[in-house]
Amino acid sequence: MASTPPEPPPKAFKKVLSRFPSGVTVVTTRNQGEPHGLTVSAFSAVSAEPPRVLVCLGRDTDSLPMVRESGCFAVHILGREHARLAARFAKMLPGVDDLFEGLAVREEVTSAPILSACLGWLDCTVESSYEVGDHTVLIGAVRALGPGEADGEPLLYFNRAFRSLASDPLDV
Ligand SMILES: Cc1cc2nc3c(=O)[nH]c(=O)nc-3n(C[C@H](O)[C@H](O)[C@H](O)COP(=O)(O)O)c2cc1C
Repeated sequence: MASTPPEPPPKAFKKVLSRFPSGVTVVTTRNQGEPHGLTVSAFSAVSAEPPRVLVCLGRDTDSLPMVRESGCFAVHILGREHARLAARFAKMLPGVDDLFEGLAVREEVTSAPILSACLGWLDCTVESSYEVGDHTVLIGAVRALGPGEADGEPLLYFNRAFRSLASDPLDV
């Protein structure tokens, strides 16, 4: 049998992945009454029937054990006006003690906090999870969803910076 090919170093992997643009979400959960959340770009639709999504959370994040224990999470798709919210939930802003301070928050089907400040939200229960390297893939069964209070262009992340759409749809 052929030997296993070597794997590229993480730095090279991250450099190539920085060339892949993504949307930006905030994933929230509630554990023992306390809200938690983090900024997540590793979000994808998985299935429409039944509706399933995935998020990949780092195994060293504080949020992962909170989601595991609560068994639920909500995904919020951010708009271009939510760049500071994304930075806040990525813990990039110094001096923020309460992540949720000043935010309009409610609950829908699960106990996960639903933020009004988004383009759209999905309230999910954890259906399954997969350990892959330094991340865990969580499959969410969508229990409720809806639009947020924003209704404009999305927030993007590309080449290690928050961005907005720079052009109209392209002709093909
Ligand atoms: C644009 C952007 C995208 C991110 N995407 C992810 C992601 O997909 N998964 C993840 O675990 N962390 C992601 N992070 C990092 C987390 O938001 C960050 O590590 C956060 O501080 C974790 O919080 P916690 O330890 O309180 O859970 C992202 C950060 C940024 C700025």
